[in-house]
Amino acid sequence: MKVLQKKGARVEVWRDQAELSLRAAELFTSLAYDCIARTGVFNVALSGGSTPKALYARLANEGETDATAWLRTNIFWSDERCVPPTDEQSNYRMAKESLLDHVPVAPQQVHRMRGEDEPGVAAQAYAAVLAENLAARDYRFGLILLGMGDDGHTASLFPHTPALDEMERLVAANYVNKLRVSRLTLTLPLINRASNIIFLVSGVAKADALQLILEGDSDGRAMPASLVQPTNGKLTWLVDEAAFAKIEAGTART
Ligand code: 6PG
Repeated sequence: MKVLQKKGARVEVWRDQAELSLRAAELFTSLAYDCIARTGVFNVALSGGSTPKALYARLANEGETDATAWLRTNIFWSDERCVPPTDEQSNYRMAKESLLDHVPVAPQQVHRMRGEDEPGVAAQAYAAVLAENLAARDYRFGLILLGMGDDGHTASLFPHTPALDEMERLVAANYVNKLRVSRLTLTLPLINRASNIIFLVSGVAKADALQLILEGDSDGRAMPASLVQPTNGKLTWLVDEAAFAKIEAGTART
C-alpha cells in the first residue's frame, strides 16, 4: 500500500478492489465508533454504483461493526436513480441486499431517497428528512461515501449539469442530459460540510479522470469530483493501482 497527499487529500493506493474494500470497511468501522463516542450517533451517506458493493458485503459478513454501533447508525444516500426501490438500478436496493438486510438497523434508521416520486418533489422531501435528522448537527455527516465515474462525476453531480451551481439547497433533482434522465443528489454545499468524505475508486477506466482531479488544473464543472473539498473535514481517496496507473506513470517519469 502507498500513501500520499494530493491537494490536501490523503490518497491510499491499494493493490486491487478487494484490498481497497477491506480498508474501507476498517475506516467505516473506526469512524462509526469515533462518531458514536463523540456524538452518540453515526450519520453516514452511502454511495451507489458498483464499487462500494464489496465494502457493503464485507461490513455485512465480517461483522467488524458490532450491534450496538449499528443501532446508533443512521443510513442516508449520496444520490439515487429516479426508479422504484425494487428496481435493479436502485442504489437503495443494492445497499439493502448487500448490507442492510444483514445488519441490525431498524427501518427508522434507514432514510432512502424516494426515486419513484417526481424528482423535484423527492428532492424537497429528502431535504426535509435531512433537516429532521441533521439540522441539530449543523447538517454535518460523520461520513459520506462517494464514487467517481470515468467522466469525473460523483454522486449524481455530472459534468456541466445544473446541480453543480446549487449553492442553497441540500438536495437537487439533477437532469443529466447525456443519460436523458433526472437523478437525485446531495449538493456540494452539503457534501463539503461532512466530517469525513471517502472516495472509492477502482479500475483503469478511472485513471484519466483521477489524474486530472488529483494532479491537473481541472475545470470543476468538467470534473465535478474535484469540487469535493470539505470545508472542515477530512478527504480520503481509496484507489486501486489500476485507477492510479496514470499518476504512477507520471511519477515514474520524473
Ligand atoms: C451512482 C453513483 C455514482 C457512482 C459512479 C461510479 O448512482 O451511479 O452514486 O456516482 O459512484 O458512477 O460508479 P461505479 O462504482 O459503478 O464505477
